[in-house]
Amino acid sequence: MQGRIVPANAEWTAEAGNLIRAGALVAFATETVYGLGADATNGEAVARIYETKGRPTFNPLIVHVLGIEQAVIIGTFSPVARMLTEAFWPGPLTLVVPRLETTTVTELVSAGLPTVAIRAPAHPLARALLKEAHRPIAAPSANRSGRVSPTRAEHVASDLGDKIALILDGGPASVGLESTVIGFVNDRPVLLRPGAIAAEAIEDVISDRLSRHTETGEQLSSPGQLRSHYAPNASMRLNAETWQPDEAVLAFGKVSERPSRKTINLSPSGDLVEAAANLFASLRALDQSGASVIAVTPIPTHGLGEAINDRLERAAAPRD
Ligand code: TXA
Ligand code: MG
Repeated sequence: MQGRIVPANAEWTAEAGNLIRAGALVAFATETVYGLGADATNGEAVARIYETKGRPTFNPLIVHVLGIEQAVIIGTFSPVARMLTEAFWPGPLTLVVPRLETTTVTELVSAGLPTVAIRAPAHPLARALLKEAHRPIAAPSANRSGRVSPTRAEHVASDLGDKIALILDGGPASVGLESTVIGFVNDRPVLLRPGAIAAEAIEDVISDRLSRHTETGEQLSSPGQLRSHYAPNASMRLNAETWQPDEAVLAFGKVSERPSRKTINLSPSGDLVEAAANLFASLRALDQSGASVIAVTPIPTHGLGEAINDRLERAAAPRD
């Protein structure tokens, strides 16, 4: 059953929708590349995406929706953002917009950024899956980190086959190149990742030149952008074995009982997937306790622990 390639008929698509709702990972065809999908509102399921891809850091993920109605309850769409969705959705255009405070999409999707990337795929299989799942679906390309994006079900099987529940075969991806990612700076569209929709086509719609970044989209929107990731107001002390009563504590696994201003345990049972799912929301909550220091107990560095520690080190790094 594991990693099984199945035809994208009604029965298997319905089964895939059930699996997504149950928190499992399903690979599916889109018009660009195959995606590794999970329920975007389920923190643990999204954490498993990072674990499965072997991503050393939490790069933010794209949330797939059926269309603008589903998108506007996740993020804020300015008039120009709406204009772009009207021109290119459904299709290979991803828009990075401010997250709504009321969204049920997990913060892990945004990797701690105040924004969320959203796209409405055009592929009939992706759309059928979104309908069956009744959920927005977070999905990066379904390859192991550092490998090229898969454009056929067999690519996914050879890369990740033993790690995912099901691979819905929608045939070769027609575009074969990832979606174009557009962000906004002062409401002006900026090309974050060149992709399936040419910049010129976007310029025609906005009747303006599209701002580019000097770096390539991937660099800007992943490692580069991590520098601007959510950093708490409190200073952070990592690998803390002890703490003062006025410090907040971010704990992992079994920890000694000591008074603290506020303690949140990322996973009392020591489960790194659960910890990853809770990380960003917990940091935010501890920061809101008003403590000037957040002490973080040691977190293992294997599996998702590598990404969790990477993220904590960035949050703890000296700031300007
Ligand atoms: O065509 C595609 O976009 C495919 C299919 C499966 O939809 N997905 C895909 O996802 O390429 P992924 O995770 O491989 O690439 C997502 C890109 C990355 O460059 C990421 O940094 C950027 O989108 N991104 C996601 N959320 C972002 C955010 N909040 N701010 C800036 N960049 C973001
Ligand atoms: Mg990718």
